[in-house]
Amino acid sequence: MKSVHSFNPFSEDTISCPYPFYDAMRQQDPVHEAAPGVFFISKYDTINKVLRDPHTFKSGEGAAFLNFQGEEGLATPTRPPEVIQKILDKGQPSRDTLLSGDPPHHVRYRSLVNRPLSPGRVAKLKPMVTTVVDELIDNFIEDGKVELVSQFAMMVPLTVVSITLGVPTEDLEKYKDWSVRSVATLAGQLTPEKAIDAATASVELQNYIAAKVEEARKDPPDNLIGNLVQAHMLEDETGDEKNYRPLDTPEIVSVVQQLLVAGQETVNYLITSLTLLLLDNPKQMTAVRNDFSLIPKMVEEGIRIESPIQALGRFATKDVELEGKVIPKGSRVVMLYGCANRDEAKFKDPSKFDVQRDDLTDHVGFGAGPHYCIGSALARLESRIAFERLLTRLKNIRLDQPRDSLRYQYNFIFRALTELNLRFDKA
Ligand code: HEM
Repeated sequence: MKSVHSFNPFSEDTISCPYPFYDAMRQQDPVHEAAPGVFFISKYDTINKVLRDPHTFKSGEGAAFLNFQGEEGLATPTRPPEVIQKILDKGQPSRDTLLSGDPPHHVRYRSLVNRPLSPGRVAKLKPMVTTVVDELIDNFIEDGKVELVSQFAMMVPLTVVSITLGVPTEDLEKYKDWSVRSVATLAGQLTPEKAIDAATASVELQNYIAAKVEEARKDPPDNLIGNLVQAHMLEDETGDEKNYRPLDTPEIVSVVQQLLVAGQETVNYLITSLTLLLLDNPKQMTAVRNDFSLIPKMVEEGIRIESPIQALGRFATKDVELEGKVIPKGSRVVMLYGCANRDEAKFKDPSKFDVQRDDLTDHVGFGAGPHYCIGSALARLESRIAFERLLTRLKNIRLDQPRDSLRYQYNFIFRALTELNLRFDKA
C-alpha cells in the first residue's frame, strides 16, 4: 500500500479514483491533516461521532460546503471579492437554515419540511414519479441508445423535485441551468468569469423563487412553497405560542433553493453510478432483473459504494481530540462519507458491489445525526422507480463508449460521471 503522504488528495487522478487514497488514510493516518488546518476524517465510527455532535462541529458559516480550489485544495471561506458581492447583493439576503444551520434554529427549520418529505407522504408520489420516468424513457426508447446523464438521470430528479416544490415544469430548463451554474462554485477552480456566472445564476434562482413565494403568499397552493408561506416557527426557547412567527421570504428561498439543488444533482449521480455498477457486475444485474425486490437493496449498495456526496465539512468550535490527534478550534473537519462507507471495520469486503449484503442501510451516504438527508425518502423512491422502469423496458443494456473514456467530474464533493452512453434493445 502506498504511503498516505504520497497522494495529492486534490489532484484529478485521486479524485477520479479516490479509493486507494482512502484505504491508505484509514490505515495509516485516520485523522489526516490534508492541508494546514484541514483535517480529513476517514473512519466510519469517527465520522459518526462528528456528525452527532453539532455543538463541537458546526455547519454554520459555510462549513458544510467545501470551496474546492482544484490542486490548491480547499479555500478557507472569506468574504467574496467586491465584484461578486455586488452581484450577490442583488439576490436574497443569506439565511442559515438547513445545511448551514446549527442548533437551536436548525431543527426548527427542519421540522417545517420534515412532514412533506416523510416516507409516508413521499410514497404517495409513486404514480407521479412513475409517469415522469416513463415519459423520459418514451423519449429515447425507439433510438436503441441513450446518453443516460442528460437524457434521463438528470431529468428524473429535476422534474420530480420541481413538481414537489411547486415550481412550474415549463421552467425546467431554466432551473436546470441555474442549478448547474450555481453549484459550479463547489467544483474545481473557477475562473473570474465562471465565478461571476455562478453568482449571477444563484441570484437569478433566488429571485425567481422569491417571486414564487410572493405569489404563494396571496393564495397558498397545495405544495411545499404553499406550506412554507403558511408555516410558523418558534423564535426562542420559551415555547410560548406568541413567540411563533411566519418565515420571511429569504428564509423560504434558502430552504427551497437547497431542496431544489440538493435534490437534483445527487440522484442524478446515483442513477448513473448504479447503472455502471450493474454493467460492470453482470451477475448482480441478472440477480436484480430476476428479482425486483432487490432494487431497494441495490440502491442502498450504490449509495454506499459510490457515495454521490463524497465529503462535507464542519468547523471545530473548540480544541478537540479525535483518534488521538488534537484538532485546534477553528479547524475545518472534512468527513469523507465515501471513505467511511468502505471502512473494513464496518463493512465486510467493502470494495465489493453486493446487493445482498446484510448491513445495507448502515452507510453514511445520507450523513447521520441532525443533518441526516431530509430528502432520503424521495431519493430512494426516485432511484427505485427509475431502475424498475429501466430494467422492465430495456434489455441487453451495454456500454456504447470505451470503458476507459468514462470521466468523473473534477469535483471534491460530488462523485459524478460526466456522461454514460448506452445501447440497448427494447424489451
Ligand atoms: C442519492 C441522493 C442523495 C444523497 C446521496 C444525499 C446526501 C446527503 C447528505 C450526505 C447529507 C448530509 C449533509 C451534512 O452532513 O451536512 C444530506 C443533507 C441534505 N439533503 Fe440530501 N442527498 C440525496 C438526495 C436528496 C434529495 C432528493 C433532497 C431534496 C429533496 C435532498 C436534500 C437535502 C437537504 C436539504 C439536506 C440538508 C439537511 C440538513 O442539513 O438538515 N437530498 N444529503
